[in-house]
Amino acid sequence: MKADDYSSSKKSDEICDKVASRLSRLRFMIRGLDLKTFIILFVLLPSAILAIYVHGQKVTYFLRPLWQSPPKPFIHLPHYYHANVSMANLCKLHGWEIRDYPRRVYDAVLFSNEIDMLTIRWKEIYPYITQFVLLESNSTFTSIPKPLNFAMNREKFDFIESRLTYGTIGGRFVKGENPFIEEAYQRVAVDHLLRVAGIEDDDLLIMSDVDEIPSAHTINLLRWCDGPPPIVHLNFKNYLYSFEFNLDHKSWRASVHRYQKGKTRYVHYRQSDYLLADSGWHCSFCFRKISDFVFKMKAYSHADRVRFTHYLDPKRIQKVICNGANLYDMLPEEYTYRELIGKMGPIPHSYSAVHVPWYLLNNAEKYKYLLPGNCIREDG
Ligand SMILES: *[C@@H]1O[C@H](CO)[C@@H](O)[C@H](O)[C@H]1NC(C)=O
Ligand SMILES: *[C@@H]1O[C@H](CO)[C@@H](O)[C@H](O)[C@H]1NC(C)=O
Repeated sequence: MKADDYSSSKKSDEICDKVASRLSRLRFMIRGLDLKTFIILFVLLPSAILAIYVHGQKVTYFLRPLWQSPPKPFIHLPHYYHANVSMANLCKLHGWEIRDYPRRVYDAVLFSNEIDMLTIRWKEIYPYITQFVLLESNSTFTSIPKPLNFAMNREKFDFIESRLTYGTIGGRFVKGENPFIEEAYQRVAVDHLLRVAGIEDDDLLIMSDVDEIPSAHTINLLRWCDGPPPIVHLNFKNYLYSFEFNLDHKSWRASVHRYQKGKTRYVHYRQSDYLLADSGWHCSFCFRKISDFVFKMKAYSHADRVRFTHYLDPKRIQKVICNGANLYDMLPEEYTYRELIGKMGPIPHSYSAVHVPWYLLNNAEKYKYLLPGNCIREDG
């Protein structure tokens, strides 16, 4: 009996315990729900909104392979060169014919403030250029007034003075306008300046930014051979900050045109399917002074990438340059996950300056900041 009493009272105790524990679990669940709702409403949701605000660009770039397919691939033209191979043989290697005399070549650029890059560019190609055409504006693409930097440094370019057609254009200074409109306006002005410079049908015209530098031998080949496509894009190695950071070898925007009056337009987008391999260098943000970086970040058509003012902090910029990191804290612009993920993080350092523009090495002291191992920039 006693034992039964004991066991029955134990049983009722157990039931009580069970009910109590269920109730308390329920209470916990309710409280837990409240807590969850609370966390979602006041912690997760605001952090998600903040994260999208701060990293929105990253989110869209990371999803790019899902929403955008890569552009139509180029038809790659192999490029052959050795100093001791004759021009007749070089033309033949490319499937072209040597001409009796070379074509005339025009090099046209829109200038902002890249004095060093312009020097290295013109020293590289000047034996083969008929006329150097340079246009500068007193407005950046983002409608900020700027000095006429070329005019102020013109004496540094004595070596091409006799072959220079220089033009200026006043900015339109339209507030809040898309920078690509001012850029397009300046490009149309280059078309006019080219005619002033005397370009004729079937002359060659190099269309590229100042920091897209064709190899001298590439330009020499194109002017001596009959047979290259009438419009051919030039494939350059992409460098960032200096020749220490070789991002990839996929620069393609520069192009060489057989000029046709009324048809040829000075633009910077894709105009043909042909891409001549390994034809030079594209050195982006290759500036001597930190202030040049700040200016460029505010001046060019992608100024919208400066989403936070701390991006313009000189200390941060210096650190980013030395690390080979991204000035805008952006993800790589790629169309496949293989490439996007492969390119995340800083660019590896390169210690080779074997294939760089010759003028750089002949003046290594002056252009030290462009060579591997010299990431520290001048202040101011
Ligand atoms: C090119 O040929 C010359 C004369 O035969 C020779 O002295 C020179 O070393 C050669 N250059 C290269 C880069 O092979
Ligand atoms: C820009 O140049 C144009 C044409 O020379 C001139 O009329 C204008 O005043 C200049 N604007 C600035 C802000 O320098």
